[in-house]
Amino acid sequence: MRPIVVTHCGVGSIAEVQDVAGRSGRAGMQQLRRGGSALDAAIAAVVVLEDDPRTNAGTGSRMRLDGSIQMDAAVMDSRRRVGAVAAISNVKNPILVARKVMDTPHLLLTGEWATRFARRHGFPFYDPATDRARERWHNTLTELAKKKLPAWAKAWRTYSGSDTVGAVARDGKGRFVAANSTGGVSYMLPGRVGDSPIVGAGLYAGPMGAVAATGVGEEIVRLVLCKFVYDQIEDLGVRGACDAGLKLFPKSVPIGLIAVAKDGAAEADNREMAWWTTAAHVRKRRV
Ligand code: GLY
Repeated sequence: MRPIVVTHCGVGSIAEVQDVAGRSGRAGMQQLRRGGSALDAAIAAVVVLEDDPRTNAGTGSRMRLDGSIQMDAAVMDSRRRVGAVAAISNVKNPILVARKVMDTPHLLLTGEWATRFARRHGFPFYDPATDRARERWHNTLTELAKKKLPAWAKAWRTYSGSDTVGAVARDGKGRFVAANSTGGVSYMLPGRVGDSPIVGAGLYAGPMGAVAATGVGEEIVRLVLCKFVYDQIEDLGVRGACDAGLKLFPKSVPIGLIAVAKDGAAEADNREMAWWTTAAHVRKRRV
């Protein structure tokens, strides 16, 4: 089977970060060309996305209402092995910690315990805060103060900026992997976990393919989006499945999807989204 990598910088990401999507995808493809697996490819791709300070993952992640940064990341393969971390702090690459969790009997580690797990596995302290993230946080607080509404009441109506980054990969042996990483959404309470590390919601993989989502976590979890898309692949093909997934949401809810399957790859979104793929026939699709 021909290897494929698809990457994205998150729904809401603009053309200015297209280069990151490309570098990330090429890093994934390099793994595959060197004989690496779909798992190696997806992880390598997400590391590049996390390391660019312009994305909302790893370095450059959003701040929560209290000014802290807590990140979520996950990876799942077609054998349905999963590794995920939620609300992890002070690591450079949450996706690499999620990859380590995959080698344990568990699926998901959270909060300070995820951070402690990272330290035990040699991930040093790292502050992912950037000046841009600090500026955004300051703007958020100013906006909330003006509107005098509780933060949680404003969260989804005022959603702005870019979201979770992700990658899906297919290797020559027909194995599929989905991986994603996020700093979360605007107006988040500390401890809040979105869709990104939740199997079936923010990502899903199995023998039919792999799917990764980006957008408002609460809405994605409610509809178990990636499992919905995965379940449509056999009947609708990967393109039709992504379109069906996107159509579940009103346009007011920003959503992006990437997927890979036996019949190729697909992308769908209802906002601007920088993405990249090796599968030349894939067209951008909005509904
Ligand atoms: N999709 C990212 C989040 O809601 O946290």
